[in-house]
Amino acid sequence: MTWLITGGAGFIGAHVVRAMVEDGRAVVVLDDLSTGDRERLPAEVPLVVGSTLDRPLLDRVLTDHGITGVLHIAAKKQVGESVEQPLRYYHENVEGLRVVLAAAADAGLRRFLLSSSAAVYGMPDVDTVTESTPCAPMSPYGETKLVGEWLVRAAGRAHGMGTVSLRYFNVAGAATPELGDPGIFNLVPMVFERLSAGKPPLVFGADYPTPDGTCVRDYIHVADIATAHVAAVRRLEADPDGTELVLNIGRGEGVSVREMLDVIGRVTGLDASGEIVARRPGDPARVVASAELIAKELGWTAEHDLEDMITSAWAGWQLRHP
Ligand code: WQD
Repeated sequence: MTWLITGGAGFIGAHVVRAMVEDGRAVVVLDDLSTGDRERLPAEVPLVVGSTLDRPLLDRVLTDHGITGVLHIAAKKQVGESVEQPLRYYHENVEGLRVVLAAAADAGLRRFLLSSSAAVYGMPDVDTVTESTPCAPMSPYGETKLVGEWLVRAAGRAHGMGTVSLRYFNVAGAATPELGDPGIFNLVPMVFERLSAGKPPLVFGADYPTPDGTCVRDYIHVADIATAHVAAVRRLEADPDGTELVLNIGRGEGVSVREMLDVIGRVTGLDASGEIVARRPGDPARVVASAELIAKELGWTAEHDLEDMITSAWAGWQLRHP
């Protein structure tokens, strides 16, 4: 079996490629290199440079490489940008997905996986978010992921594809320094950037109804995200007809911004005590996954702790910012 991995040259996609190759699987990457980097890919992995919106290209790739399943990871993923450019986000994330699904269905593929996000939940008012917690995305980005899940489910039912949508919680860390996150859009790299500039990290609000007043999230190592994909692939290979899953990928452990700063301070040896500033609009106080369903369905659980995430992310940061 050969898997097409869209977005495979990106931060998360490259980790999935690596885990798939380590698991002995044949993969082909389609990536427009808008944020991806071919240097992230092992030399033996074929890279097709192009867009998920290019249907003739997709048809060619599926045929030429004998693709039997798709891991659709390519997407725009910045929440703030999606508020400013909703049409672009719907075009790339929803229309891009629709085109890939149509090519997969017409080629008779029976296996499809979508990378989704905890952003589908919005501001959940529960301590632990299960897959049946109502979805109420708060940004066009989150909307495109939820619509994407619906599209995948409907197409899977109509065209006989087994489907899995994986809802990533807060991704951090790197499997190797070279594979580190080049973006500075999330807490860990934003803290590293401040520390590297000799400035205190910013804490966006310390008056939330949480134990230490700062927001609580479920941080998950990107290498664990990758092994969850491999577990889903195994399931899709074994039982495409019986598979229609939407699963959280998290650790089921809430960690506050303050606790993250403590670990970052310990790992980097820098003063990461932080400066409290105003809340960032739209931030929920607490978003923590239940990781029970994925353990039950795929036998997968996270292996890496916060220390691993921060240590590996810091090594990646130092490589890119010597
Ligand atoms: C985490 C916490 C901030 C920076 C977003 C998307 C989500 C998903 C992951 C794509 C929050 C606080 C941050 C800083 C801080 N993206 N913070 N100081 O907002 O939970 O999730 O990224 O799939 O959809 O919404 O992640 O890393 O931006 O923030 O205090 O300098 O850290 O307020 O509480 P978030 P984040």
